[in-house]
Amino acid sequence: MSTNAPISILLVEDEEFDVSRVRNTIKLFPSRIQITDVVSNGRAALELIRSKPDRYDVVILDYQISGGLRGEELIGMMKDADAFLQIIVITKMTINITDYEFANNLLKAGAFWYCTKYPGNIEEYIYQPTDFLLSVFNAYGKKRLEKQKVKSDKRLLQNIESLLESKRIIGESKPMAQLKESIDKYAKSEVNVLIMGTSGTGKELVAWNIHLKSKRRYENFIRINCGSIPHELIESELFGYEKGSFTGANAMKSGLFEIANNGTVFLDEVAELSPSAQVKLLRVIQDGEIEKIGRTGSLSVNVRIIAATNTNLALEVNEGRFREDLYYRLNVLPLDVVPLRERGQDILLLFDHFLEYFSHDLSVPIPLVEGQARDILLHYKWPGNVRELRNVVQRLMLNCNGRITAKEISDPMILRNHVLAKDVTNIDDLASGQVLPLREMERIFRTRYFKYVRSISSSDSNAAEKLGVAPSNFYRMCKELGIK
Ligand SMILES: Nc1ncnc2c1ncn2[C@@H]1O[C@H](COP(=O)(O)OP(=O)(O)OP(=O)(O)O)[C@@H](O)[C@H]1O
Ligand SMILES: [Mg+2]
Repeated sequence: MSTNAPISILLVEDEEFDVSRVRNTIKLFPSRIQITDVVSNGRAALELIRSKPDRYDVVILDYQISGGLRGEELIGMMKDADAFLQIIVITKMTINITDYEFANNLLKAGAFWYCTKYPGNIEEYIYQPTDFLLSVFNAYGKKRLEKQKVKSDKRLLQNIESLLESKRIIGESKPMAQLKESIDKYAKSEVNVLIMGTSGTGKELVAWNIHLKSKRRYENFIRINCGSIPHELIESELFGYEKGSFTGANAMKSGLFEIANNGTVFLDEVAELSPSAQVKLLRVIQDGEIEKIGRTGSLSVNVRIIAATNTNLALEVNEGRFREDLYYRLNVLPLDVVPLRERGQDILLLFDHFLEYFSHDLSVPIPLVEGQARDILLHYKWPGNVRELRNVVQRLMLNCNGRITAKEISDPMILRNHVLAKDVTNIDDLASGQVLPLREMERIFRTRYFKYVRSISSSDSNAAEKLGVAPSNFYRMCKELGIK
């Protein structure tokens, strides 16, 4: 269907006289419209349409052709065979043109337009030529539009699908399977969601998935980091301002809520919102309206809010730092993202996923991973969750030579055990704030430290090596400490 080729017509007409009247009418624009084929019955027409996809743009169909297949039934079958085909119906005068029902049925069956033939004594034309030609041009225009729409819808869908693929949530453990189920369910709904989970567990990823699976997927997803916008700017960032509303407002600024209209707003670190920003947010949620600085009258917006927090928001409410009414507005549907250490084998799935990702990124083959190295990964506590795991893989990829060993993984440059540093240096934490005899304190320290080193070692002899003691001594010390 190139723009220069003439509009291709299939004429379905069983009376020679009418075939020539149609030809005559169309002849006025020979370079623009061309009758490609003429058939006298419905079956032949269908056969041609089916066997030669995209050969015709417009069908001119006589309503009263002979043979079993005709009328609305035939129109429906033609549209089934080629949804873009536009059908113009011509009928004998015997059908009352004021018959609304008749016209309506034709359109419902999928016809584009219909007209009644001129009486038989008018030999030249089938119908008023300009009207008839215009309807052919319009039919063709409609076909082009429909095709373009399908194409751009397809492109949009492909974009969404590739975005979804890049935001895929890896994990098959029970809590992750449940999380994915909730995401699918919540995506169908329009109400606000509160995502809770410690740092690096994947809260933003979850928010993206809800958005991309919801019917707002073609609209904006706007992330607002409530912790990073200075308090004095939050109002203008969220709601925008009109030109000239204050000194320095040289141009109108759209607020993030306005930009997100019809889409999703992701309020990250929502516990960080100042009390005054909380009040304003509450107003948006309650009334669906924003008050832009310097604008008289409010502006309606339609946004879905997904909020996330890594603190216990209910506790913040209890302690008076977060508004209770806002909390309930945000927390209509709660979602918990569990820490990585509670996801079992997902640790390895994620490890392999990131390994593949970074290998591809660096254009190197995916390295081999020793079984013992995997054991260490499985038993490590992952205080920084998935983000930490991702960083670990990235560091490993930069250092390894095609093989990842237990030794490499347990290198403190790789598994950065911040938790250990905190545990062993924080005296309060070590002995619950008490001052204990040195021997007692040493015992506590050793127990923790040994347990930790074992957790990041591939075997007990590997742990002993790291501690710089002979394996036999290590066994003895563990036994004395009651670790086994
Ligand atoms: N289940 C998962 N599958 C694949 N990638 C994941 C998964 N969970 C998290 N990630 C990746 O780990 C990184 C951290 O995830 P994300 O930013 O969503 O965490 P977060 O909970 O928002 O963290 P923070 O609380 O620090 O803001 C991102 O690169 C994300 O793509
Ligand atoms: Mg985040």
